[in-house]
Amino acid sequence: MKRKIIVFDTTLRDGEQVPGAKLNLHQKIEIAQQLQRLNVDIIEAGFPASSAGDFQAVQEIARSVGNSVSITALARAVKSDIDAVYESIKLAQNPLIHIVLGTSNIHVEKKFSRSKEAVLQMGVDAVKYAKTLLPQVQYSTEDASRSDFEYLWKTIEAVVKAGATMINVPDTVGYAVPEEFGELIRKINERLKNLDDRVILSVHCHNDLGLATANTLSAIKNGAEKVECTINGLGERAGNASLEEVVMGLKVRENHFNAFTDINTTELHRTSRLVSHLTGLDVQVNKAITGENAFAHSSGIHQDGLLKDKQVYEIMSPEEVGADSMELILTARSGRHAFKNSVARMGFDTSDADDFEQLFAKFLALADAKKEVYDHDVFYLVTNHRTVEQSSKQLYELESFQVVSNDQNPTAAVKLNKGSESMKGSAVGDGPIDALYSAIKTLVGLDIQLKDYKINSLSRGMEAVGRVNIRIEHQGKIYSGRAMDTDIIKASANAFLNGINGILLDLVKDEK
Ligand code: KIV
Ligand code: ZN
Repeated sequence: MKRKIIVFDTTLRDGEQVPGAKLNLHQKIEIAQQLQRLNVDIIEAGFPASSAGDFQAVQEIARSVGNSVSITALARAVKSDIDAVYESIKLAQNPLIHIVLGTSNIHVEKKFSRSKEAVLQMGVDAVKYAKTLLPQVQYSTEDASRSDFEYLWKTIEAVVKAGATMINVPDTVGYAVPEEFGELIRKINERLKNLDDRVILSVHCHNDLGLATANTLSAIKNGAEKVECTINGLGERAGNASLEEVVMGLKVRENHFNAFTDINTTELHRTSRLVSHLTGLDVQVNKAITGENAFAHSSGIHQDGLLKDKQVYEIMSPEEVGADSMELILTARSGRHAFKNSVARMGFDTSDADDFEQLFAKFLALADAKKEVYDHDVFYLVTNHRTVEQSSKQLYELESFQVVSNDQNPTAAVKLNKGSESMKGSAVGDGPIDALYSAIKTLVGLDIQLKDYKINSLSRGMEAVGRVNIRIEHQGKIYSGRAMDTDIIKASANAFLNGINGILLDLVKDEK
């Protein structure tokens, strides 16, 4: 019989740990709702003990999607972290506490400076405490792949006896190789099933050697019942196993793995684009499953073969992962109904009439400027609208700007609003964007370094929309900002202001 593999998505926890990928509350909810449409089994919504903002985000996600998806959040093996997880997820229908504690010698000796017995006892006590709050508790043996096997097993045995219902075996530093990791999982699974066959065995692989997907699949082949992944493979350092790769690996090679997931694969492409847009992190063009070239065939020999039969060079269809190019082209005359249809088809909620009217007004402005509005444009229009809409009065907004570009003294003048405050300034720079950013920097008065500036054309058509992604540094921390507009100078100003607003929100959080 085919085994169902549980899919645990940690884009909002491990994925959000990527420098500059910080998401605001609204963006996290948008992603969680898309993960719900994708039909993941468990969402790891954050690390609530890390900040009040993270706590609130986990709580809101539990409220908004916790009726149909299991919600979890991360805790270290200490009471205060476990309390924060419990308080933030308790409203979900199927909440799960996730506790992490290292098992490798290097973690025990260097991170905790305690004896192995003391660390093991910390884990047992944490599980026992978590069980007084909720029935479902996952225990992650951090750095498992570099741990002494007998100590790793002793820990697993002890925490299962203390009540853990899921054991997660992480390759925290991406050190494992498929054969060896598969063997580790096989050995643990054999003992675990003898100990208590209701306990679920899970894996969590990092991609430092580019092996996260391979290790995850090898673990499934050897008995793992649950996988932890992220959209676009986001995560610490080189990232985590990519959800779309693991899921499609299982689907395309279902007979080999004798396993399946409940993922709605036609939502994969949309989920990837949403995460990429909201985090500002591009998907590499040749990325498996969701990269722009994943289904593009360029060589003549391949094209010829495909025309004869798609299976000659295609192991899965773009339609299966939602990458088909069926789209409607809208114009200013398409009307509310067609626009609403388009927005709803992308999975966005259109039930709030006032919000929809604001969105429709923005669509008309875009259609006037661009004439032809593609799916791509609608997608970014909605995500951008939802991001900007929730900005509070304490944040900067662009009122107007003027930029003069020449080879002598490029200059920029800007007018900004911040609540009821209005301010004007101008500057000269090495180029028009430098002048624009210097003018803005002087007005906001923060020490900011521009680390990265990227501009992409988002869609086809004569008047393509430009998307600008920036990364800035303030006091050693990286913030990202993005914006889109048919006017790339305006998009540049707004992307910079969005990054600056991220700094302000962080400063407000720290003051609380
Ligand atoms: O990489 C890791 O070990 C983790 C744990 C919290 C599961 O992210
Ligand atoms: Zn991790």
